[in-house]
Amino acid sequence: MRLSRRARTLAAVVAAGAVLGPVGWLWQDSLVLGSFSVMAAGEPDFGGGPAFDHHHGDRVVATVGEDPTRAPDVTVTVVARQERFRLPGGREVDGYTLNGTSPGPVIEARQGELVEVTLRNESVADGVTLHWHGIDVPNAADGVAGVTQDAVSPGDEFVYRFVAEQAGTYWYHSHQASHVQVPRGLFGAVVVRPSDVDDDATDVTDVTDVTDVTDVTDVTDVTDVTDIVALAHIFGGTRTVNGHAGDSPVAVEPGERVRVRVINTDNGPMAVWVSGSPFRVVAVDGTDVTEPGQVAGRAVLVTAGGRADLELTVPEGGARVELGGSAALVLGPPGPPTEPKPAATVDLLSYGRSAPLGFDPDAADRRFDYAIGRRLGFVRGLPGLWWSVNGQLYPDLPMFMVSEGDVVRVRISNDSGEVHPMHLHGHHMVVLARDDVAATGSPWWVDSLNVADGERYDVAFVADNPGVWMFHCHHLGHAADGFVAHLMYEGVTVPYRIGDGNEPE
Ligand code: C2O
Ligand code: CU
Repeated sequence: MRLSRRARTLAAVVAAGAVLGPVGWLWQDSLVLGSFSVMAAGEPDFGGGPAFDHHHGDRVVATVGEDPTRAPDVTVTVVARQERFRLPGGREVDGYTLNGTSPGPVIEARQGELVEVTLRNESVADGVTLHWHGIDVPNAADGVAGVTQDAVSPGDEFVYRFVAEQAGTYWYHSHQASHVQVPRGLFGAVVVRPSDVDDDATDVTDVTDVTDVTDVTDVTDVTDVTDIVALAHIFGGTRTVNGHAGDSPVAVEPGERVRVRVINTDNGPMAVWVSGSPFRVVAVDGTDVTEPGQVAGRAVLVTAGGRADLELTVPEGGARVELGGSAALVLGPPGPPTEPKPAATVDLLSYGRSAPLGFDPDAADRRFDYAIGRRLGFVRGLPGLWWSVNGQLYPDLPMFMVSEGDVVRVRISNDSGEVHPMHLHGHHMVVLARDDVAATGSPWWVDSLNVADGERYDVAFVADNPGVWMFHCHHLGHAADGFVAHLMYEGVTVPYRIGDGNEPE
């Protein structure tokens, strides 16, 4: 029997509707129109703990900073410009500078000092912010455009104030259009030294000349350690350290003890190893390792955004700190040949000696899953194979809800086919287990965790810093593609909006 022409057309329309209707709905649902509050984005997830009304917080945490009457101990002004410039090592870059150069100034403080940084945007057309990566600052100083502040427009300024509570190695970078601005230069190092360091032993390091990056600090055990910042960054495909490609000589003497503060500012992990000397991994992401053992013939994997402090005594023939194999610090005499990248890696799960965590992760108030995958769908109206978290695509990624004081556990799993450096703002997480193997070494505290494809990590932290905090992939291209979830505290509210000039990723 033949259907009439009209009936056939109708059948086709119905069939197409059955297929395209849901697709159209998904497409429409993915469109983020105009601006929106981060509080309205995301699927609330209470992690098995008590639920609360998360749309009506009464504490505008993102506007409350440090005590405004306290005078700062460290005052820095940073001027951001969009321009063509020359790296300290001589290469030309079309990008962004801070005080005329990239990397920007090394910001140095003592533990407990109040740091006040004035960011002035001279000419960055898209606006700019500064995020203090790894420093558990008050939410108001977190520097995320559209979440904790508005992007700073050309001609405007913004003042960040925070107490450097924890000694260690950190960095700062723009969190406005970060996948564009960070690769092209808007970043710098932060070094917080212990408060018990001898007063006249520290001085300002100068990244414009790598031989000046050293300064002598007296640590409490009366041994002199020379402090060296090694800020690694890939500019236009070339790896640099403090802006220098290739080998960077550092004027230190055989017998001198050095602490090399390696900072990975890129989108992918970087293997670091030492030619010509054993070493110790004395700190990870700003936290000292308990009883770090001597390492030889192994590399340390520094995840994107992560830091590792290596300590060694410069041997007679000098040593080389190899940063991914294409850039190196040459410590002392330019003696030892480059050793190839060791096949073995220091496993921080069992490195150092175990010590109390200071809280009980087994008494967790909330347990979250952070399951990273990939699936077909629409993000911002574009069809594609996108990063998913717990099966959801941006902007419906989970909003992890906590109350102040909660002990929080998160199981991060990655089945997406690629490595992801997972970064939580405002908190440090301790690694409890990897692939169900419990940690046995020094407490392994991180703010940036390398989660390879197929891996599962159990981490825990104490919710002790109220606010709304990003919990995202620090491959900034992945973040820009929507790989951004948040941690939100009960009772807080955010007055800023994403969109209309605020594009944090
Ligand atoms: Cu290094 Cu969300 O940032
Ligand atoms: Cu990623």
